[in-house]
Order: sequence, then structure tokens, then C-alpha cells
Amino acid sequence: MIPTDVTQYHYRAGQLHCEDVSLAALVKTYGTPLYVYSQQALQARVTELRQALGNSGHACYAVKANQTLGILRLFAENGLGADVTSGGELYLALHAGFAPQDILYSGVGKTETELRFAIETGLRAIHVESVPELQRIETLAAEYQRVVNIGVRVNPDIDVPTHPYISTGAKEHKFGVPPTEAVQLLMQAQLSPWLNPVGIASHIGSQIMSLKPFAAAAEFLAGLASELTGMGIALEYVDVGGGVGISYAGQEPIPLTDWINTIKAPIAEAGFSLAVEPGRSLVGPAGALLTEITYVKDNGHKQFAIADAGMNDLLRPTLYQAKHPLLPVQQSNNATVLYDVVGPICESGDFLAKGYVLPKVEQGDLLCVLQAGAYGFAMSSNYNGRLRAAEVLVNGDQVTMIRERETYADLVRLQ
Ligand SMILES: Cc1ncc(COP(=O)(O)O)c(C=O)c1O
Repeated sequence: MIPTDVTQYHYRAGQLHCEDVSLAALVKTYGTPLYVYSQQALQARVTELRQALGNSGHACYAVKANQTLGILRLFAENGLGADVTSGGELYLALHAGFAPQDILYSGVGKTETELRFAIETGLRAIHVESVPELQRIETLAAEYQRVVNIGVRVNPDIDVPTHPYISTGAKEHKFGVPPTEAVQLLMQAQLSPWLNPVGIASHIGSQIMSLKPFAAAAEFLAGLASELTGMGIALEYVDVGGGVGISYAGQEPIPLTDWINTIKAPIAEAGFSLAVEPGRSLVGPAGALLTEITYVKDNGHKQFAIADAGMNDLLRPTLYQAKHPLLPVQQSNNATVLYDVVGPICESGDFLAKGYVLPKVEQGDLLCVLQAGAYGFAMSSNYNGRLRAAEVLVNGDQVTMIRERETYADLVRLQ
């Protein structure tokens, strides 16, 4: 089944298409594994988000979800800012055309080199996550004789219903600082001639399929920002972090409009501009991973469909036990079979789906892994000497290769 938030993938005459392009035809030209993105789906998401925000705030796309330049450029051209988490992501965001004043820099372990890059560039704000980080930024700002905008990432101690690896806003997590420390850091910034406190932020986690924790975070942050106003620290924005989850396994998707409407009210009532850092919900449903079945193997206990894409291409099933929808590229009336759809990597943890019901597949058949646009290619690697996949952007019946398939030469290029 195609989840309802996946809007640009559909069967036409039994062939799965992205917009007006047959996926089988794409594979003939570009091979597999292949990442495909629908430009119309990407643009529709951005339009919905920007309309919901109106003039109540600004969205900074979380570059970590997908850092491919072709995707970043599209978001920059469509009026989004960027949320980066490393010097590398900052470099990519600038290269793609995001203006420095539209870039937020998050991350718990920014190095001195990375902070120098950020200060030299002059960003919207650096989001501080510890006492020594603020000290380091102040020292560097003084050295550069530049006033640096800072925000503080607060840990609101809100537990969320998601995978433990992507729950980030509870006390036991490394992210942010406790509220009392956030106040101290902002006071210190206020008193420094080199620091300009402009915001507070939190990010409670990713792939959250309920609005409740977002409402709690927004109310908490709005309250804290108002307290700070009372202490003479006039912040400009309140950043409620990443966006809502997407429908990987048949869950009811949350419209971006509902998410923004939930969080914008308390922030606006407190008199602040809203900032958000969505990644997954913008790029996830627009992307798919195409793979060819290399072999089908029955070991007397299980049926394995061995695909030419593995955990190096899409790590989410292995890392988060994520369940992605899989579809045959060519619709079939074959009887269904229970498969473990596995990759070629030498790890038993290498699978795209376990115990998955598909119409019987054969060697050479193509499968499409949906909801693969976020944390898909971005987390891919050369493990097992595998070449990173090519990526294409589809717009109507037009196809643009936005990243070439790696070659064996790429494996030795830097060595
Ligand atoms: C600080 C921060 N902002 C934004 C995001 C993006 O979250 P999502 O992809 O769920 O929208 C993340 C991802 O975990 C993050 O760590």
C-alpha cells in the first residue's frame, strides 16, 4: 500500500511511476540501487509549510535529513533557511545558496574549527548546548572582534513516543542544557559585548506521530522565553525544533498545517517569532529507493529476496528497526510470499524488510522502497566496498541526475 503522505508515486498501466516517469524506465537509464525524488512532492511540502507559517515565523530545513545539493538548492530557492549540525553541512548549505542570515547551527559538539567557520560566515545564530561551548564562542568572538548571535538549546525533559535513538529531549540525553542553565547562559550572553542572545530552541526527537509532545514543547519554550523577557533578555525567536513523523507503517500522517497550527499559537501569544527545523517530513515522502532482486533463495526455513541495495544504502531498517513500505515496480497478480528482503552485505543485520508479504518475486524484478527520502542517502556508506547509489530528481516527465553513481575509482581517490 502507498501511504497517504506519499503523493507522487502511483501505478499507471501496472507500472509504478514517480510523477510521469516510469520507474522501470529510470532503472534502464540509471541502474540500481537508485534514489529517486519527486520535485512536485518536495515543492508541495514546502508550500504547505510556508502557508501554514504565514508571517508567524521561519522554517530552516534540517540538512541532516538529506544533504544532496540538488535537494538543498530546491529548498533554498523555495524560501527555506537551513539548520546545520556540522562544518560540512554548513559548507554544503552555503554552496547550495542558503544565505548565512537564514542558517541556524545546532549540535552538541561543535569544534573550534567549526565555530570559527560559523563566526567568519556570520549566521542567523549558533545554538549553544553547553557552558564550555558558550565560553569558547565568546573567546572566539572577541578574537574576531565580531558580535555573534547565539541561541541556547534547552532540554525540556519531555519524553516522546519514538525510537530511543531519535528521542532527544529527555534528561538522560546529551542534548541541550537544563532550563536553569539556559537562563544563566543567556544572562551571560546578554552581559557580554561579543554575544547577542536572539533565541531559545529545543528538539524533542524525530519520527513523532502525535501532536501532544510538540504542544508541550511549544508551551514550555514560550513560557521560558516570557520569563527571560521579564529578566530583561528580549529574544527574537523560539525554535521548536524538528518536524512531525511520516507514515512508514500505515500510521495516519499528521498534516504539516496541523503541526504548525499546534505550535504557533503559544509562541505568537507570547510575542515571539516561531522557528522550526523540519527534515524528515519535507523530504521523506518525496524519495524512494529502487533496487533489483539479485537472487531469490529458499533455505527450507525462509524465503530470502536478495536485493542489490543493502544497509549501506538504507540504514534505517538496521539501525532503527524501521519498516519501510516496499512495492513491486511492475504490478503482479502472483500469489503472495513471506520474504526477508535482504541486502548483499556480510551482516545478518543487513535487511530492507523482514517477514514482508510481496507477490512472488523473481531474479531481475525491481522493488521500490518508499519513504526513503530522509535519512536514506544521507546515511549511506561505502561499507563492504559498496559504491554509493546515484540520485535523480523527477519533475513531471523530466529527469535530472543530481548525484552520479560512485565508481571503483572513488573508493581509492583519497588514499
Ligand atoms: C536539532 C535538530 N533539528 C531538527 C532535526 C530534524 O528532525 P526531523 O527530521 O524529525 O524533522 C533534528 C533531527 O533529529 C535535530 O537533531
